Amino acid sequence: TPVVAVAAAEPAKPTILVAEKLGDGGVDMLKAVGTVDCSYDMTKDELLAKISLVDAIVIRSATKVTREVFEASKGRLKVVGRAGVGIDNVDLTAASELGCLVVNAPTANTVAAAEHGIALLCALARNVPQADAAMKAGRWERNKWVGVSMVGKTLAIMGFGKVGSEVARRAKGLGMTVIAYDPYASQEKAAALGVKIVTMDEALAQGDFFSLHTPLTPNTKGMFNDELFSKMKKGARIVNVARGGVIDDAALRRALDAGIVAGAALDVFSTEPPPEDNPLVSHPAVICTPHLGASTKEAQEEVAYEIAEAVISALNGELTPSC
Ligand code: MLT
Repeated sequence: TPVVAVAAAEPAKPTILVAEKLGDGGVDMLKAVGTVDCSYDMTKDELLAKISLVDAIVIRSATKVTREVFEASKGRLKVVGRAGVGIDNVDLTAASELGCLVVNAPTANTVAAAEHGIALLCALARNVPQADAAMKAGRWERNKWVGVSMVGKTLAIMGFGKVGSEVARRAKGLGMTVIAYDPYASQEKAAALGVKIVTMDEALAQGDFFSLHTPLTPNTKGMFNDELFSKMKKGARIVNVARGGVIDDAALRRALDAGIVAGAALDVFSTEPPPEDNPLVSHPAVICTPHLGASTKEAQEEVAYEIAEAVISALNGELTPSC
């Protein structure tokens, strides 16, 4: 009698939707375990139509994974991979109710974000974008763009986590006195970097420059409001490479117009891209970049590997929900 070999059924390969540009190395890792659909710049309707066809989605900050998206997946979506740190664009309550794991890349872009914070700090202190724009418009304005020095000034780091610590380390190299406000920070870790942990009121009263590193949560939304700005030293300067939503835009505009805040450097906005009537972007004392904190070649390569590894582990059932 002939021998009939019956091949064991292969476990179905997962389908992974990569909804925002991800480094090639990470995409290749995902391709090794599943079918990968790289569809960038989808409209909300396109995302809603596609989500029930995939087991995992990889996003950066532009894609909003709302309850509506989770519900449209009809139970198929098992993993959301956030190629970056902040998961404020994912509805975590809906994810956990509907049994979907949310994973992020918590370390790979730390240095890139800190470097961008320092780049903006220097650009803000020395009016680099304004002077560059003037020169490109044919004006040689040496007297108009006199800046302020950073050496000997106090930098208040608002949120002393991974990025805040790296900004502190670099600011010490610029000769700044660095203080930090963070209710959860360890005094010892701060002291090891030469940073003093202070109360919110002390930070507001002492900071010449503020670097914001607070995650966006319901508690921190709009926390930089009229009251906080009114307690700042007159002429303070603010750098935000964290999340736009931690600032009350209208309040910052008032503080700028009143001269309480002398300038702000913003990489992040409460709505991205900011609408034309955003009260901050057009202000002459505000300099802006389009959410570039994590955008270095090196960081994006590393983030892609870090998130691909986390998504694969989650799809393999090697991670369990932490909440
Ligand atoms: C982050 O949260 O790590 C950044 O927003 C990353 C990004 O630019 O996507």
